[in-house]
Amino acid sequence: MDKDAAWEKIAKLRKTIEYHNNRYYQQDNPEISDSEYDRLMSELQALEELYPDGHIASSPTQRVGAAPLAKFSSFEHPSPMLSLANGFSREEIIDFDVRIKKLAAINNFSYVAEPKLDGLAVNLVYENGRFIRGATRGDGFTGEDVSQNLKTISTLPLQINNSGSHPVPDFVEIRGEVYMEIESLNKLNRRRLDEGDEPFANPRNAAAGALRQLDPKITARRPLNIFLYAVGKIPGVNFSSHWEVLQILQSWGFPVNPLVQKVNDINIFLEYFARMGDLRKSLPYEIDGVVLKVNDLALQEKLGNVSRNPRWALACKFPATQATTVLHDIIIQVGRIGSLTPVAIMEPVNVGGVTVSRATLHNEDEILKKDIRIGDTVIIQRAGDVIPEVVKVVLSRRTGKEKEFQMPSHCPVCGSEVVREEGEVARRCINLSCPAQIKENIKHFASRGGMDIEGLGEKISAQLFDAQLIYDPADLYFLTKEKLLELDRHGEKSAHKLIESLQRSKNPPLNKFIYALGIRNTGEHIAKILAREFGSIDKLMAATVDDLTAVYEIGPEIAASVVHFFSEPKNKTVMDKFQKAGVIPQATVTAKDSPLQGRSFVFTGSLESMPRSEAKAIVEQMGGSVHSSTTSKTTYVVAGREPGSKLDKARSLGITILGEDEFLKLVCR
Ligand code: IVH
Repeated sequence: MDKDAAWEKIAKLRKTIEYHNNRYYQQDNPEISDSEYDRLMSELQALEELYPDGHIASSPTQRVGAAPLAKFSSFEHPSPMLSLANGFSREEIIDFDVRIKKLAAINNFSYVAEPKLDGLAVNLVYENGRFIRGATRGDGFTGEDVSQNLKTISTLPLQINNSGSHPVPDFVEIRGEVYMEIESLNKLNRRRLDEGDEPFANPRNAAAGALRQLDPKITARRPLNIFLYAVGKIPGVNFSSHWEVLQILQSWGFPVNPLVQKVNDINIFLEYFARMGDLRKSLPYEIDGVVLKVNDLALQEKLGNVSRNPRWALACKFPATQATTVLHDIIIQVGRIGSLTPVAIMEPVNVGGVTVSRATLHNEDEILKKDIRIGDTVIIQRAGDVIPEVVKVVLSRRTGKEKEFQMPSHCPVCGSEVVREEGEVARRCINLSCPAQIKENIKHFASRGGMDIEGLGEKISAQLFDAQLIYDPADLYFLTKEKLLELDRHGEKSAHKLIESLQRSKNPPLNKFIYALGIRNTGEHIAKILAREFGSIDKLMAATVDDLTAVYEIGPEIAASVVHFFSEPKNKTVMDKFQKAGVIPQATVTAKDSPLQGRSFVFTGSLESMPRSEAKAIVEQMGGSVHSSTTSKTTYVVAGREPGSKLDKARSLGITILGEDEFLKLVCR
């Protein structure tokens, strides 16, 4: 391949990978298999190594390619990161303006108003236009170096755009807020619940959790965003106003919040504040206030700081999304896998514009920890679309008449005994025929992430079960239009439609079918891995714990859940019924009979015949996978010239070691 052809291919691959990144990470809806994706990535890596084209900094290979870290290193901010003083009312905002006018000894100056994103502050360093490092705020002087996670933020430029009217300085320090959109948080929380993890209480916690992952691949699956709002040290450049700073940041390609506005007096700012308060509910991200900043940078400098807060800025907070109400009762909800979740029933109250009458209490430990009793006055909190929760009890309102809550010893729906297994926070109803569980299971089966059966929502599933038309998901496929018509609310047309969507759902992608079964610890991601590795439902059903744990990312807990699920007599019957009904899942990837299929490789030392990236691409093309460290799951360690400690580790673990020649033979080169 000549250079021009290689560059053309590189550009094409980058575009293709960016497209698939978006499908996988942002939309959770990949179009190609993981191995196909890895193949594209390896091909690009190999080409970039051979034909450097000067645009590598913004290549997808730089965004999600990094290996997991053992721990974060600390990062000293080139200039300290300050925080903001808060203003909680109109009066405090007006006082601020009066104070500035007095200190500045002028009346005629402008402000900049900006939404205050509720995420976490980061500091970024660019050298010669390239993103070098980025860190969390930490104590304002030193933060944690989270560079590789920041790179996964697709809207963050890794290369400053230098085609604008402002030359790019050698050294640039800029600040901004990393945040997660509410929709992304809800999606992430649904996935976490599926996989048995606690949901995040608000977008800020979720963003902080994502940014503090040691493995950037995990960060990449939790889509983050960023808005930049300030600069730190930029030697040799003098800006005159904050407004100018924002314009230049934008021309350099940085995302700047489109709602920022220059305001010429405090009354206009108060209008802006009120407008943002209204707009807040319809924004895709959470804001907890508006920041008011003096625009003129010389004036900012003159005003200086008070302790760690600049005198020239004020964080004007919206009234809290917390409210006080009375807890009337605690009821129990039974989930898909039988977990009993206590839910608070409260006197309806308005929290940030939404009427709330229920809040999750999570589990019995949480109730004990917060000492929540029936009849208590409680403070509740709501963040975005997140389920409201009880923050704490107002102890001063206790009358002594409140009642302590006891978790039931029997399932409130089916009456069976409940158990709390060691190490678990929830009590569970272990009766597999519990109507609550069955209904939840059918709902899950038909859900969008599962079989995606149109017209089969929560209500219809429950109605079908209550009418004794179905007892498990497989029964759905034996429903007839006539049977449906016997139910109220079912007209000819909707019955016809439901039967049609059931027919249409009979050949689902294998991963969706596995997910739909509702196996414990098996969310959408794990279902994809299982589908890819086993290729058919029969093979998965026959898999042993050893077969399963041999797969990368499948640990003993998931393996045990899968084996347990298929060994359950009741589930065996359900699987038989699926087969009788003609429900045949389709393998998402082509059959694998390559000798490298499912084998995992680790390379150490350099190969004579090809660069490591090419060897990696070959292995992956043939269905194998390449990892950076040797574990007991590694099939082969390929040792080239001057191998490192990975070789010793392989020896100590008794893993097959291949020399370069043997490797080449294996891959038929
Ligand atoms: S300016 C000295 N602008 O609020 C100026 N901060 O307590 C420092 N924040 O740590 C920050 N949106 O995490 C600024 N438009 C905005 C902001 C903003 C959110 C956060 C930031 C900071 C905290 C201030």
